[in-house]
Formats: sequence, structure tokens, C-alpha cells
Amino acid sequence: MDERVYELLNDQMKKELYSAYLYMSFADYYEDEGLSGFANWYMIQAAEERDHALIFRKYLLDNGKSVQLKGIDQPDKTFSNHLEPLEAALEHEKYITGTINDIYTAALEAKDYRTMKFLDWFISEQQEEEDNAEKQVSRMRLFGNDAKALYDLDQENAARVYAVPSPLANA
Ligand code: FEO
Repeated sequence: MDERVYELLNDQMKKELYSAYLYMSFADYYEDEGLSGFANWYMIQAAEERDHALIFRKYLLDNGKSVQLKGIDQPDKTFSNHLEPLEAALEHEKYITGTINDIYTAALEAKDYRTMKFLDWFISEQQEEEDNAEKQVSRMRLFGNDAKALYDLDQENAARVYAVPSPLANA
């Protein structure tokens, strides 16, 4: 495997684990705010991000590469209203989409068609991640100032259940 592609794949594990950490910090904030549905949403999001890291880990191991676990930064997010974590999530997902695209570009340049195929799942997943994050932002902007509507949003987020991502389910 091309050295740059390897480095980027290995670094992506750390970025996905940081995403899990970040979303856990959002869940903690919402738990403190009494919005346990939003907390549930972000704890499930955190579990999915850990899974994303595991998918990269498996790909490296399946291709005979060693896995290097690097340090994960502390999320330093303090929030002054219910909208801010949702906006931060959208911004973060756009950043992650960029990092996936960077790996894809490196794989293309290295003619690493296997890695490009592997990344296809993440390219679709990132579209879903950004769509979900955008939906959370727009609904909070529209309804967040109304107590009854906020209650309903929280109930809706409470209904989210964890599902194993397909690349791991078939592993
Ligand atoms: Fe692993 Fe939310 O992207």
C-alpha cells in the first residue's frame, strides 16, 4: 500500500475516534440540560463513530498493515444554547467529509483502486451524516424556542436506536 494512503487511513481512525469523543461531549451537555433524547442521539452517534474507526482498523489489518493508535484530543466545547452543538456537529461532519475526500484523492493518485472502492461506503455515509446534521440544525432553528416543540424534538431523538454499520455487520 502507498505510504501516504496508509498514513491517511491510519490517521482517519484517530479522527473518527475524536468524533466519538466530541459527540459524547454533546450528549453530556444535553443530559445536563434535561434533553435526554438529544443525549441519546449523540451517544448513538458516538457509537457509530467508534464503528467507523473500527472499519478503518479492519481494512488496514485485512491488507497486512499495522495499526498505530495515536492520541485523541480533548473536545473543548462549551455551549451557551441548544443550537450550538448541532451547528458544531454539522461543521465537524463537513470537515470529516473533506478528510475522506483527501484519502480518496491520495488513493486515486496512487492508483489504489481497492482503497477507492473501500471508501465508497464512507462517501455515501458522509452524505447521510451531513443530511442528518443539517436536519437537526434546521429543526432546532425553526422550533427550538417553543417548549412543546422542543419536547417533541427530544422525544423524536429519544427513539433513535443503534444499528451496526453494514461493513462491520458483514465482517
Ligand atoms: Fe464518521 Fe460522522 O463521520
